[in-house]
Amino acid sequence: MAPVAAQTMDVKSIKSVAESPALSSVPSAYAFNINPNDEADPNDPEFAIPIVDMSLLTSGSPDQRSKIIHDLVKICKEWGFFIAINHGVPESLMKGMIDACHGFFSLPDEEKEEFKSGNDVLEMFKYGTSYNLALDKVLLWRDFFKVRVHPEFYSLYKPACFSEVSMEFSKRTREVALEITRAISESLGLEPNYIHDAMNMDRGLQMLAANYYPPCPQPEHAIGIPHHTDHGLVTLLIQNEMNGLQVEHNGKWLTVNGPANGFFVNLADQMQILTNGKYKSVMHRATVNNKATRISIAIPHGPSVDTLIAPAPELLEKEGQAPKYIGMNYKEYIQLQQSGKNYMKSTFDHILA
Ligand code: OGA
Ligand code: NI
Repeated sequence: MAPVAAQTMDVKSIKSVAESPALSSVPSAYAFNINPNDEADPNDPEFAIPIVDMSLLTSGSPDQRSKIIHDLVKICKEWGFFIAINHGVPESLMKGMIDACHGFFSLPDEEKEEFKSGNDVLEMFKYGTSYNLALDKVLLWRDFFKVRVHPEFYSLYKPACFSEVSMEFSKRTREVALEITRAISESLGLEPNYIHDAMNMDRGLQMLAANYYPPCPQPEHAIGIPHHTDHGLVTLLIQNEMNGLQVEHNGKWLTVNGPANGFFVNLADQMQILTNGKYKSVMHRATVNNKATRISIAIPHGPSVDTLIAPAPELLEKEGQAPKYIGMNYKEYIQLQQSGKNYMKSTFDHILA
């Protein structure tokens, strides 16, 4: 095959492609077919997305808390996805964060390119288009940036408001994510701090990853992000007023539509490994639309990068199971996921025990 990397070195931002007045169809480098027959009917009760009221975890009665933890078992096994409401992060802060990201993407391309950086998975920040231009077979209808916000906090220096908003937002979403890991630990019959401690989350990797999906003239012939699972433990996601996230459930793609101030929460690969496959790292993707720009912000939370992740011995013993996955250091796992070998696929096949 021709060296794709060389051909795609100078790929323009999707924002500038989408804004070109002559654009009436999807350029062939971006061609991707969505099969409408694979989509779920959102009105079918089978596809009613689970909702978790976080206030009942933090300040409900003991009965209310146990009920949620009980519900989480089924949610994490069958869905690996839910919407968290009443989580305590102010709506104004969520909106401020979206606005700050919008401010960044609205900068001229030359200014955004100051943030390009190298290819190491642990760069302080990274801006680009598509996924990985050296590997992508089809270009994606999205621009993105990622910033590492924990254990050390980094920020973009443009726009001026970014640092203050992202610091507060990162801190507050971290509290929600940690509350979720406590509840999930309990749902597994473990101590509330089990996941936090075993995964060294005091030094856990947290990113702020923003996606920009401009309107697309033929949304069924392009893709924002193709199907994938996230590599960490749990990802929180917010968006502006446009939908586009789809999760795989019972063999269908379901468009997530939920309360505007909720967090979309998906379990990720390290959670599946830790629970020996009991809990599911949900397959998901981002579709595009022809009406308005969609911005989403994913906040993945993971173990510390030097943690070795393997099925929890306490769980294996309790369930009388053999480990399904071999142990691997988190940083190596991320590198494996982002290497060409697993292009946009699940990495699990490589770590089966
Ligand atoms: C991601 C992701 C989905 C979306 O950034 O990993 O899955 O809706 N994003 O933007
Ligand atoms: Ni994702």
